[in-house]
Amino acid sequence: MRITVVGTGYVGLVTGTCFAETGNNVTCVDIDENKVKKLSSGQITIYEPGLEKLFERNLKEERLQFTTSLAEGIKDAQVIFLALPTPPGADGAADLSFVLRVAEQLGKLITDYKVIVDKSTVPVGTAEKVEEAIARNCKGEFDVVSNPEFLREGVAVEDFMKPDRVVIGTRSERARKVMGDLYAPFVRQGNPILYMDERSAELTKYAANSFLATKISFMNEVAVLCERLGADVDMVRRGIGSDDRIGKRFLFPGIGYGGSCFPKDVQALVKSSQDAQYDFKILNAVMEVNEKQKLFLVPKIKNFFNGDLKGKRFALWGLAFKPNTDDIREAPALYIIESLLKEGAEICVFDPEAMPNVQQIVGNKVRYAEHQYDCLQDADALIIATEWSVFRTPDFDKINESLKNKVIFDGRNLFDVQRMHELGFYYESVGRAVARQDV
Ligand code: UDX
Repeated sequence: MRITVVGTGYVGLVTGTCFAETGNNVTCVDIDENKVKKLSSGQITIYEPGLEKLFERNLKEERLQFTTSLAEGIKDAQVIFLALPTPPGADGAADLSFVLRVAEQLGKLITDYKVIVDKSTVPVGTAEKVEEAIARNCKGEFDVVSNPEFLREGVAVEDFMKPDRVVIGTRSERARKVMGDLYAPFVRQGNPILYMDERSAELTKYAANSFLATKISFMNEVAVLCERLGADVDMVRRGIGSDDRIGKRFLFPGIGYGGSCFPKDVQALVKSSQDAQYDFKILNAVMEVNEKQKLFLVPKIKNFFNGDLKGKRFALWGLAFKPNTDDIREAPALYIIESLLKEGAEICVFDPEAMPNVQQIVGNKVRYAEHQYDCLQDADALIIATEWSVFRTPDFDKINESLKNKVIFDGRNLFDVQRMHELGFYYESVGRAVARQDV
């Protein structure tokens, strides 16, 4: 099939590359000339494990191309994906201006039947708005489909190639057939393609992300309670997660969810609810808990240093909002940095991928270490904000030698509390006992 993907951001680039990988001919369109130039010359613009290999292969085999011209990009395409940004506007609602602007332009360009697919996360009712925007000037036939994307950063290729489900929102038989054929190679293992109306598909995406965010905030509150009541959140997590109705996944407490999706989508669903004169109480609490959770470690750190962090030196491991990505949007680490700097502390950071992105925002207010152990030198404590695999089994002797105090604050529960006690560390994590040393 000939496919166009408009927008070469995270979702667009993964979508385009993975469709090319299954034999389709894909043209990606982006208004950013620089990006198109880079991508056309084989330079990938995002960090995502496994993507580069597929990208290079499909570029070489000419199943994947890039252009800044929408007219050129959609020529001969049967399906046009819109993978455009929908940032939160001032009122928290998703800003649809990018999507609707392209829809309007498409209207002027379409001459034969096209399936236009909303891949971006968009509020309920957007498919209708897109349809109106296209129809305003359109002479050709078309259908608008809502096909939300559920991929996770860091495992995006795997998620795209083997999705748990594909949601296709359309009431058109013709569009349904095209979309079914396109996705058939991705659901060979038996996972379902769920056909539904556009509005249900749009809401499915928000409800899924909001539900997952709820699970996380719920566990973060359980963790607080564990600390107060002397229970261990790891035990409680296992205890409840083995009930199939609850499920083992997404029950890990920590220093809050971040990223480009959860914070934005929960907020947008709250806003949609308000617009529909409904107060979605649980989600308000989910957001409130998460805001607090990002700074969960800070009072613990302050407390340990008797309320005075002036001149204290901290090593910070992990900046990305989660492992295997360089994405720092809404990353808890940034909030921790801001808060500690305000208290007069000095910070040296390390992250395997995200340091260049942090440098752009934080500049030289912190120091950047070349190696994870370099930033420990003479630090008063180590703080862990992201659970990169390289932090999971560190060389504790090295940590020991470098740190001024044997003190670790772990926002991702990477280590066993008893073991840390035996190794002689003061160790605080989330929802578990504190490993204290007598001396
Ligand atoms: C999420 C959804 O999972 C995906 O389906 C959607 O398409 C986009 O949003 P992503 O943002 O890439 O994907 O990351 P995910 O792995 O879901 O993690 C989100 C956040 O939740 C991270 O900050 C992570 O640290 C946090 N998290 C996750 C927890 O705090 N505890 C958990 O148990 C799981």
